[in-house]
Amino acid sequence: MATLEIRDLHVSVEADGGSKEILRGVDLTIRSGETHAIMGPNGSGKSTLAYSIAGHPKYEVTGGSVTLDGEDVLEMSVDERARAGLFLAMQYPVEVPGVTVSNFLRTAKTAIDGEAPKLRTWVKDVRSAMEGLRMDASFAERNVNEGFSGGEKKRHEILQMELLRPKFAILDETDSGLDVDALKVVSEGVNRVRQGNDVGMLLITHYTRILRYITPDFVHVFVDGKVAEQGGPELADALEESGYDRFLTPAAG
Ligand SMILES: Nc1ncnc2c1ncn2[C@@H]1O[C@H](COP(=O)(O)OP(=O)(O)OP(=O)(O)O)[C@@H](O)[C@H]1O
Ligand SMILES: [Mg+2]
Repeated sequence: MATLEIRDLHVSVEADGGSKEILRGVDLTIRSGETHAIMGPNGSGKSTLAYSIAGHPKYEVTGGSVTLDGEDVLEMSVDERARAGLFLAMQYPVEVPGVTVSNFLRTAKTAIDGEAPKLRTWVKDVRSAMEGLRMDASFAERNVNEGFSGGEKKRHEILQMELLRPKFAILDETDSGLDVDALKVVSEGVNRVRQGNDVGMLLITHYTRILRYITPDFVHVFVDGKVAEQGGPELADALEESGYDRFLTPAAG
């Protein structure tokens, strides 16, 4: 049982020569086995939250804390965060020229576990995870994300997650750009990870359609750099119905 705790998190980015505050006091607690969905309008800071937890150098934490079982995540290097069990699937995955999927996965697994995986079981694990995600075996020999279609990038992220078995996974718009079949395949992959590993999951999404396959325990509405409201799965349906207007309308007077 592990806990990822975000307390009063403030984050700024450098923009136009000045510093701009994007996150303005985020509070969120995720425990193993829980799935949290974050929904919210464009530009509300959802990806910024994901990047900040992952340790992206562009985002400067100006206040608050992120802890994993009481350990200060913000003090950790990006590698240490991965070894501590944090995983981020980015909204816009980057290409890694000259590194094949197969090598990338093995290197990442070795770095996270502190030892190389046993070759025979590893090859089997990779093959079965790829089959589960309906990925052609030839994918393993392609360079990471080079020329991948949008949907292929997303499958590759889920493949990583299945093989690296993080304690906490943050999936930033893993559903965007997926056709209905791919959405199902990817959701099944996410659910395999959820069932087998007691993982804590933070799912950033714009659409409720992925939440039909992956039922969240909690839904948070993110507006203007913080959590404006939280509830259960029914909140997602209410948002689909009514949009974010009621959060965006300034208070009278
Ligand atoms: N590196 C950066 N430089 C300048 N501004 C940034 C940077 N990163 C984020 N921002 C700004 O911070 C705000 C929040 O961006 P963020 O990507 O976190 O939003 P989001 O909620 O993920 O939006 P979307 O739903 O469109 O993905 C935006 O106004 C964005 O322009
Ligand atoms: Mg985003």
